[in-house]
Amino acid sequence: MKKRKGIILAGGTATRLFPLTLSISKQIMPVYDKPMIYYPISVLMEANIREILIISTPRDIVGFKELLGDGSKWGMHFEYKIQEKPNGLAEAFIIGEDFIGEDNVAMILGDNMFYGNNLSEILKCANEREDEATIFGYYVKDPTAYGVVEIDDSKKAISIEEKPKNPKSNYAVPGLYFYTNDVIQIAKSIKPSQRGELEITSVNEEYMKRGKLKVEILGRQMVWFDTGTYDSLIETASFVQTIEKRQGIQICCPEEIAYRNGFITDGELLALSDKLIKTDYGKYLKDLAEHKIELF
Ligand code: DAU
Repeated sequence: MKKRKGIILAGGTATRLFPLTLSISKQIMPVYDKPMIYYPISVLMEANIREILIISTPRDIVGFKELLGDGSKWGMHFEYKIQEKPNGLAEAFIIGEDFIGEDNVAMILGDNMFYGNNLSEILKCANEREDEATIFGYYVKDPTAYGVVEIDDSKKAISIEEKPKNPKSNYAVPGLYFYTNDVIQIAKSIKPSQRGELEITSVNEEYMKRGKLKVEILGRQMVWFDTGTYDSLIETASFVQTIEKRQGIQICCPEEIAYRNGFITDGELLALSDKLIKTDYGKYLKDLAEHKIELF
């Protein structure tokens, strides 16, 4: 199978969260019990992707390096690159060209959170699709703030628009994209939009034109949040808190995924739990390592 690398785009100015983000990165802020970027990292890990490039601003990249290091503590490999200005999501593939090399790539936005029943199967399936791009469609009441995909009866994409005033469907396109290696050339060939950005929607349109775009619908049992406003930030945190308290099971915990996927051993997980042992998070990792939580 062709290898796939991951990119997490965690830059931007987060002006919609001012003054919260005047001096720190949005994607490092807490979502209940963990930094926001843990959620998208977990999604890529669930897809079995182990090499990730984290892209952020000149100001914020330092914080990510301090938080995550080279990834080896989770059996991962992390690299870092700077995006000088928020020139658009598709610029990630130009910045990441050397990192991607000859491989396929998946990108997730640093402020997107996914959770749901068969998520890891859906992700592994997208990962294994080698010759086509995969994007997702998620039914929302008001899709005007998102990329919007229109699909026909056979679930084929027939149009994609960025933040349309009059959306042709209710299917928003979440910030998670699985692309072939061609994405580097496509990103280089598209023109900036009216707002001056290299739009991810232009990349998706190009795949659609080539007949190489698969749209997977995320069903109603799936949860997708993008945490770009005060309200969505607190809604996401409340959701995580509610589920974690009720079940005593972590949502999007990279240490747990590393352990369950065999990236780290019992002993390594136990060592990781040590530092966090004053928290429920740390105790959870310890219980996992000591087999006190049943694997399911
Ligand atoms: O969340 C899903 C949506 O993300 C998609 O439905 C849209 O098609 C896509 O364009 C994007 O829309 P947003 O309006 O959410 O994009 P925004 O400019 O807010 O950027 C998304 C995240 O990426 C945000 O956390 C900041 C970061 N970013 C953004 C840009 C433009 C960067 O790191 N670099 C950038 O150049």
